[in-house]
Amino acid sequence: MTVQRTSLFTKYEIKSKNLQNRFAVAPMTRVSANKDGSANQRMAQYYQRFATGGFSLVITEGVYTDDMFSQGYKCQPGLSNASQAKSWQQVVDSVHSHSGMIFAQLMHAGALSQHNKYVNHTAGPSSVQPLGQQLAFYYGNGPYPTPRALTESDISTVIDGFVESAVRAINIAGFEIHGANGYLLDQFMTEQTNRRHDKWGGSLQNRIALTFEVCKKVREALGEQIPLGVRISQGKVNDYAHKWAGGEKDAEIIFGTLAQAGVDYIHVTEYEAWKPAFPDSKSSLIALAKRYAPDVTIIGNGALHEPGKAELVMNDGADIIALGKAALSNADLPIKWQNGQSINPINTDMLNPIADLKDYELTL
Ligand SMILES: Cc1cc2nc3c(=O)[nH]c(=O)nc-3n(C[C@H](O)[C@H](O)[C@H](O)COP(=O)(O)O)c2cc1C
Repeated sequence: MTVQRTSLFTKYEIKSKNLQNRFAVAPMTRVSANKDGSANQRMAQYYQRFATGGFSLVITEGVYTDDMFSQGYKCQPGLSNASQAKSWQQVVDSVHSHSGMIFAQLMHAGALSQHNKYVNHTAGPSSVQPLGQQLAFYYGNGPYPTPRALTESDISTVIDGFVESAVRAINIAGFEIHGANGYLLDQFMTEQTNRRHDKWGGSLQNRIALTFEVCKKVREALGEQIPLGVRISQGKVNDYAHKWAGGEKDAEIIFGTLAQAGVDYIHVTEYEAWKPAFPDSKSSLIALAKRYAPDVTIIGNGALHEPGKAELVMNDGADIIALGKAALSNADLPIKWQNGQSINPINTDMLNPIADLKDYELTL
């Protein structure tokens, strides 16, 4: 089967919500919220441009979930209290007013936290210093501190944070649980950062249990009508080349488990999403997600800013494609593709020296 470029322009439905095409904006942290973690008018303007430009789905930047260890970055927005939740209304309204749909990405930074206005140390599955250096473009500097291991009671607080922040923002169209890129849920999933001997550590089934539990509890709290997804990756912001040690077997366990957690979609992100996921495999991670979670919508992400690449992953089973950096330089990328126009090259200046919203970007 060959997917024609036009198939990207067909409608799609997630939980009775209609998407006009298959284009989503990938979640991108832009450290531009107010210091108290509330969203602002600049953010509303930024997100609105994607809806105007033809993206039918906008996934927000990672939003922190509690007033304990979840915040990762200075000027990151939160949903950890009522006033932060209320502040998102202007963003949601601006996207809705242009017929777009918006999902909030719920994120707990865990051991990768670089700034937290609520507590003065970091916490993760185990007391293991993260690899790599803090991200300078989010105001970080130097190595990550060694986190303290979360207790069972802390883990309950983590789960409650995801659930309560979703409930607080139930008027936002949908939610994505950030289970990827090296943040807390991924730290639990990863052998190197999870050295626990309790029910949250050891086998991959145990290590994926927290992601499963969060998805299940959020689903229970939201009811069946609100779209809910989860994002999964192999690579991490502090370890790009990480691969799941068990290859396709791990993919079967991870995607098979998440399919049971009540999510509507799995958002799979890889550096180049169409490439084989493992050295000894022919299948992309998207194809494996479709194979092991066949009834779940698959969003594919990773360097898909050429129509041919987007078509390849649609052929592999992606239902929706998410674009990150190319969307920043082309908030109207779907319209350009539909009209056969070329797109602006990716402009990484926008993210330097700090990845915050730039005035010129808001008017592109
Ligand atoms: C500035 C920036 C911020 C990002 N922030 C997030 C984030 O908050 N949550 C997340 O899941 N991924 C985040 N990502 C990763 C993107 O969602 C995406 O996976 C990555 O850019 C690869 O897609 P692309 O090749 O289309 O850019 C970020 C990427 C960039 C460039």
